[in-house]
Amino acid sequence: MTQVIRSSAELREKVAGWKRSGMLVGVVPTMGALHDGHLSLVREARRQSDRVIVTIFVNPMQFNNADDLKKYPRDEGHDLALLDAEGVDVLFAPEVTEVYPEGFATKVSVSGVSEPLEGAFRPGHFDGVATVVAKLFGMTQAGRAFFGEKDWQQLQVVRRLVEDLNIPVRIIGCPTIREADGLAMSSRNVRLSAAERAAAPALHRILEAAAATLHGGASARETLLDAEAEILEAGFREVDYLDLRSVEGLRPLERATEPARLLVAAWIGDVRLIDNIAV
Ligand code: PAJ
Repeated sequence: MTQVIRSSAELREKVAGWKRSGMLVGVVPTMGALHDGHLSLVREARRQSDRVIVTIFVNPMQFNNADDLKKYPRDEGHDLALLDAEGVDVLFAPEVTEVYPEGFATKVSVSGVSEPLEGAFRPGHFDGVATVVAKLFGMTQAGRAFFGEKDWQQLQVVRRLVEDLNIPVRIIGCPTIREADGLAMSSRNVRLSAAERAAAPALHRILEAAAATLHGGASARETLLDAEAEILEAGFREVDYLDLRSVEGLRPLERATEPARLLVAAWIGDVRLIDNIAV
């Protein structure tokens, strides 16, 4: 049975016991509303650790939009059943006051890699992510942590964070899990209307086509202007960014002359979807 823990003191005690018996502890940080993307991280954590903690915490500090926070889907009972079926040892689901008690005053801010793309469109978002992830590493004391490539930039921010602050955790990146039609799984997908859900897979289709063109040596400026027009024609309302970036350091690239990533954020109705693929 998956044990639910809400207090960091209790979690620390639990983990200390595991570590005394020489066990390797893995953590999968999430905001809940779990889907197969999250569960793929859990399965990788199972393979690579002796004990697995999944955290569910809808972190107010990383939401730059109050409405998005309010509408964020929550169903802890269902999540717990899924985690139990995966053999997860502990679900750590703290209250907001446990994570941010009265007097809390510290912010972790990773510069550079967190500034473009999501950082430019969601001010403060990555400070919130870096702060809560640093805290979750402190609270769980895990030796391995599993993150999805779905949030490519977040993965880079977390890697930078643990290197810069000497946090003794190994970060494992895991591939994006998609629906059969290519749409990247996301907790926000449940907010799509039937028509939006039908249009949404175009995003990945257009990314794939643009990546092939870029791989052939085409100019990013031209290729991405065309791709952006296609995204809008497919029923998206607005494209926040569609960018070719270096894998190392997320530098903007005009051509795919080195290992690169194509990243997009676009609005369909009032839902903002992000995706990215290798070039
Ligand atoms: P959340 O969006 O719940 O995602 C939790 C983890 O699941 C992240 O590492 C994310 O990249 C991964 N994930 C989401 N969808 C995925 C998919 N389709 N395939 C593979 N992995 C996927 O990301 C967060 O929460 C938060 O920012 C968090 C790191 C928990 C900090 O609050």
